[in-house]
Amino acid sequence: MKKITLEKLQLTNFKGVKSFTLDAAGGNVKVYGDNATGKTSLADAFVWLLFDKDTSNQKEFGIKQVDENNKVIHGLDHEVSAVLRVDGKTIQLSKLYKEKWTKHKGNIESVMTGHTTEYSVNGVPQKKTEYTKFIEKIADEEVFKLLTNPSYFNEQLKWEKRREILMEVCGDVTDEDVIDSNTELASLLGVLEERAIEDHKKVVASSKKKINDELERIPVRIDELNKGMADLSDLNEAEINEELQFFKTEINRLEDQKSDIRNGASASEKKNKLYALENELQTIKHNHTKYMSDQTLQVEKVLNEAKRAQQNIQYEIQDLGEEKNRLNGRVNFMENERKQLLEKYHSLNGQEFEFSQECSCPACGQDLPEDKLNAAREKSLEQFNLSKANELDSIKEKGVSLKADIQKASDRIAEIKSTIEQRQKDQQIEADHIAKYQKELADIKDGLVPVEEVPAYQDKLKEITSLKEEISNASESVADEMSEIQSKIDELKDQAEKLQVGLAKIKQHEQSRARIKELEDEERKLAKKFEQLNKEEFLMDEFVRTKVNLLEEKINSKFKHARFKLFKDQVNGGLAETCKTTFKGVEYDAGLNNAARINVGLDIINTLSEHYGLSAPIFVDNSEAVTKIIDTNAQMINLLVSEQDKKLRVETEALQEVI
Ligand SMILES: Nc1ncnc2c1ncn2[C@@H]1O[C@H](COP(=O)(O)OP(=O)(O)OP(=O)(O)O)[C@@H](O)[C@H]1O
Ligand SMILES: [Mg+2]
Repeated sequence: MKKITLEKLQLTNFKGVKSFTLDAAGGNVKVYGDNATGKTSLADAFVWLLFDKDTSNQKEFGIKQVDENNKVIHGLDHEVSAVLRVDGKTIQLSKLYKEKWTKHKGNIESVMTGHTTEYSVNGVPQKKTEYTKFIEKIADEEVFKLLTNPSYFNEQLKWEKRREILMEVCGDVTDEDVIDSNTELASLLGVLEERAIEDHKKVVASSKKKINDELERIPVRIDELNKGMADLSDLNEAEINEELQFFKTEINRLEDQKSDIRNGASASEKKNKLYALENELQTIKHNHTKYMSDQTLQVEKVLNEAKRAQQNIQYEIQDLGEEKNRLNGRVNFMENERKQLLEKYHSLNGQEFEFSQECSCPACGQDLPEDKLNAAREKSLEQFNLSKANELDSIKEKGVSLKADIQKASDRIAEIKSTIEQRQKDQQIEADHIAKYQKELADIKDGLVPVEEVPAYQDKLKEITSLKEEISNASESVADEMSEIQSKIDELKDQAEKLQVGLAKIKQHEQSRARIKELEDEERKLAKKFEQLNKEEFLMDEFVRTKVNLLEEKINSKFKHARFKLFKDQVNGGLAETCKTTFKGVEYDAGLNNAARINVGLDIINTLSEHYGLSAPIFVDNSEAVTKIIDTNAQMINLLVSEQDKKLRVETEALQEVI
């Protein structure tokens, strides 16, 4: 085990202590002093030197001295130094905290600009980090505080941290350990393989809640179903079914009857007979029409021929008339032309010869000789007469030809006129024929009777009318019969429907009963399941309790005086983790006396010291409260109130032994 002892602790201007040296010489010491003499300050100084905090684990605490008016006294050096022996090796530590004063340019006086801390190990100045590292090597801060201050574990740590330390020191209890200690819990093994007991408890609790909710709902649903069930006192299913069967048969029978009537009416002989009669009537009509047309046919034929002949004559006359007009036009034209030819003939015939020849040569201008002139004259006359005769002949010829054409056309005109007259006479003959035939036709038609007056036709029509009447009367009676049957069917259907409502009621009743039974079965199942879950929950609680007991036993067995409560009962019946230190049943925080607190703290230090393998000086403040302090292997610095000691007085072990 690593052993750290305090040889010397020196304070200068540290809190209320101006200057004090504690010479412990590595052994147990008792420091006496009245209130406010600086006992606690010693412990604070020791912690500050190592870790920059006081015994209450405070970082901000007043190291600097203040006057009576709480004004800081400036310019002081605050120093703590200690000589330790660590496994036989002496180490000297020192820490100096002082103000930093700076004189700014142009100012006469210096101003405080902050603080500095100087560290040294074995007289060698160190940087803060070097110093901290050096301390870390001697001991872990947390462990050191746990081992040097009996109240640290119980008063400075949160319960979770305390529990963690205890678990670390004593070791946890495994689930197997718990089951081994109580065979009844073996059934939980399967559960524990799947999930932690706490998680399984949550699962069970949630299942229980669901089941419980369901169990609460089921009676409500059963009640609702009961209330919703119809009164069946006046309903008999067998009777209803029998009646329904009867209605069904009856309706089928009536439907058949209906269809028989419907088919009978449509295929009746009467209708067939009517069709036959109508056909016969049609034949009479047709025959009569044929007879009438036979009667008139011959006359109509000659009448039409006469009409056609008359028409043809008319066309012929028209054509002749047109030809005559055309020829008349042509004759006029030719007459005119002949007249012009005559005029031209007379004019030409009346023309005399004239000689108009020049007597001089037109080329040389010399007078022509007389003979030549005569010869020329003769020749010219000859030519004149010849051309005149030729021209007159030509006119004459044209006139003769024209005259012949005119004569020809006039002859044709005369012929046409006579033909027209003749054809007009023929036309009149045809017109007489037509009038004659038309009269004949009218006489024949007058002599014919219309079909409606033919007795055979009239008889047939009468027959048809009376048959139609019969059919109509018959279908009217069929319709009446059908509607009577239909209303019977409707009535039966109505009654059947009412019976069906009854049946539906019975069916619904049965369904509700079945559902109620289902719900009751479900209720029983759920109740059973709930019971099982209760058992499981009980076992799990038992498991936890067993584990708690085992754990507490295990932990408590490591301590002489201190006992630990690691679980607390919850309102819901479960357990919650905690960590409370007790002594003889009294909780540390709830009424434990000071002496017991100190001794319990020391007991814990003893066990932890063993666990961490470290022994360090223990500062026991207010140690006067304890008349019998328990044994420890560590160096004890007891700080005791002593009214008579107005200044701190130190008693070393050696001195105590002497006394
Ligand atoms: N920063 C400070 N400047 C001046 N005086 C201080 C300062 N801090 C504490 N003091 C005073 O120093 C004195 C010593 O205090 P300390 O707590 O060490 O006394 P103590 O001996 O432990 O007293 P008690 O027996 O009551 O516990 C007290 O009078 C306290 O008020
Ligand atoms: Mg004190």
